[in-house]
Amino acid sequence: MSIPEVQITKEKHTCIVRFNRPQQKNAINEAMYTALSKGLQNADADPEIRVIVLCGGQNCFTAGNDLREFLASPPTGENSPGFQFLKSLTNLQKPLVAAVNGPAVGIGTTLLLHCDFIYAGESAVFILPFINLGLCPEAASSLLLPQTVGLRRATEMLMLGESIDAHTAQKIGIINAVCQDSETENIAMETAKKLAGKSLAALRHTKALLKSNSGITVEEMIYKEIQIFAELLHSPEAKAAMTAFLSRK
Ligand code: COA
Repeated sequence: MSIPEVQITKEKHTCIVRFNRPQQKNAINEAMYTALSKGLQNADADPEIRVIVLCGGQNCFTAGNDLREFLASPPTGENSPGFQFLKSLTNLQKPLVAAVNGPAVGIGTTLLLHCDFIYAGESAVFILPFINLGLCPEAASSLLLPQTVGLRRATEMLMLGESIDAHTAQKIGIINAVCQDSETENIAMETAKKLAGKSLAALRHTKALLKSNSGITVEEMIYKEIQIFAELLHSPEAKAAMTAFLSRK
């Protein structure tokens, strides 16, 4: 039996999605995009699952899109598995935590802009080589990267296509923390565990609010937040937490 190139496992309330094509440095082919989309959608719909962890293993996160497939059958439009994957990623309502060791190339870096927490090992390198391949940014990275690191650094990364290391990525705000390679997945799982203990409804709304701020005014955002805030105030979890605080001795 062949080992799947995208492995999906469950550990309590966490779904672990793992790139598993090490001979090709986890380059993502169409079948993998389809498996990733399904994995994310299923995890989002699974009432047992509260958080998703995305990882690639000890040596490589992913070398990005499979370049052989790019050449042989370039993706066209909205029906392509890559596009469908991006749709699943942006529609994901539950928290997504990434653990990155080794290279994160192309979509390996741009997908991180859609993750909620990112931990990287010392070996991690982040590369957006589109310019060097005669391509332009994808996965909304031309919007999200400047929002994340500022226009100066985003322009540098996207126009020069040079790699940055884990410490630089942390300094400019692409990732949360740098650790030993052997610890990356453990740290991601620790955060997943913390998230799994929170109210899922509150997490979903927080994620949606955090990601909905493009083009929105401060006033609109206050209004949008207050409606959801009011809704959450009526939830059993909020009531229980407030009651517990007020009744503490
Ligand atoms: N698509 C298809 N195959 C890829 C690949 C990709 N994106 N990236 C790596 N591979 C394959 C290589 O062809 C090689 O296969 P082979 O053993 O049959 O020759 C194998 O994976 C190992 O790659 P190699 O380059 O020898 O590994 P490395 O450790 O020296 O370097 C990378 C790792 C990721 C830095 C390097 O492979 C790389 O830059 N890959 C291309 C990344 C890229 O441009 N992605 C597209 C973004 S849009």
